[in-house]
Amino acid sequence: MRFLITGIGGFAGPHLARALLDAGHTVHGVVRRRGSMRALEPLHMQFGERFPSGAVITADVLDPRALLGAVAEARPDGVFHLAGVTYVPASETDPLAAHRTNFFGSLNVLRAVGEVRPECRVLFVGSGDAYGAAGNEFSMISEEVPLQPVSPYGVSKAAADLAAFQWHWAGGNVVRARPFNHTGPGQDSRFVCSSFARQVAEIEAGQRPAVLEVGNLDVIRDFTDVEDIVAGYVALWERGEGGEVYNLCSGRAVPIRTVVDELRAQARSAIEIRVTEVRRRPNEVRRLVGTAARAQSKTGWRPARPLAETLARLLGYWRERVRAKV
Ligand SMILES: NC(=O)c1ccc[n+]([C@@H]2O[C@H](COP(=O)([O-])OP(=O)(O)OC[C@H]3O[C@@H](n4cnc5c(N)ncnc54)[C@H](OP(=O)(O)O)[C@@H]3O)[C@@H](O)[C@H]2O)c1
Repeated sequence: MRFLITGIGGFAGPHLARALLDAGHTVHGVVRRRGSMRALEPLHMQFGERFPSGAVITADVLDPRALLGAVAEARPDGVFHLAGVTYVPASETDPLAAHRTNFFGSLNVLRAVGEVRPECRVLFVGSGDAYGAAGNEFSMISEEVPLQPVSPYGVSKAAADLAAFQWHWAGGNVVRARPFNHTGPGQDSRFVCSSFARQVAEIEAGQRPAVLEVGNLDVIRDFTDVEDIVAGYVALWERGEGGEVYNLCSGRAVPIRTVVDELRAQARSAIEIRVTEVRRRPNEVRRLVGTAARAQSKTGWRPARPLAETLARLLGYWRERVRAKV
């Protein structure tokens, strides 16, 4: 089959591309800038003709004509829409940019598919952040829980999620995923697990004092390995009910303190902790933990990787980058 991935040069994109290529599919991708293609080089080398560098098209999701061109060129059977503004503080600094990209960008993707490849099924990637404040109220968030987003990012994802439902209702073919936090190699170090793992690798290499700077350690999140999440995207694309929405999460309630403890346990040298005000986020919800029972019963998907293993791979990734000075 032929697939098109928007946001293929980001964190989850290359993991998803690898999963599809490993399964024998042909992959095309959309990046906003050529610079985002660097993460894809190992895949071009490994998969050659099934994923040449020419299969990655430069297009902004805010440019409908460029998207029409990308869909026409890729001729996909399936689209995974991952592209978007993903960093919550960036959405707070510039809410309009987040709304534009995440809402109108998603509409543009759906419309381009509708125009050029109407039979194509789209997996829309929303976010568990759309539940927002509901996380403090419900210990395990299911898809029936009302959306109460607390950041412009969460609002933009919730709005796009509803637009994707409407698009399906009007005759499109879309399945909606609401992934909760995920992490693993390749994640930007603005995100919490990656930030800690990078600091540990830099401390081990003597590039910074042996002090891990952290924010609020009592916040509770539901972390899943990125490999499990992309397997969930594929399972939902293949076996999800059209129009339906599915959480993808581990169901584990993990205080950030546990992530810190695990990384300190894996570190090759002793590390102190320092809570710094700049790393605290005043508006964040205390707890956000989901249940993926619906995805599990519909598709058989189940996250498999323990958090300690995910963090070990993430730390390995940062050790390698610090060693190679990239
Ligand atoms: N990672 C998580 O924990 C998590 C949790 C819940 C939901 N999600 C969702 O999962 C999806 C993938 O996330 P990720 O972690 O892989 O994020 P990411 O690393 O930030 O990747 C997003 C990609 O989208 C691209 N993009 C942004 N604006 C664009 C535009 N106007 N046109 C075309 N491309 C654009 C970015 O390109 P640039 O590099 O050029 O900006 C980036 O490569 C996102 O929709 C995110 O909201 C992620």
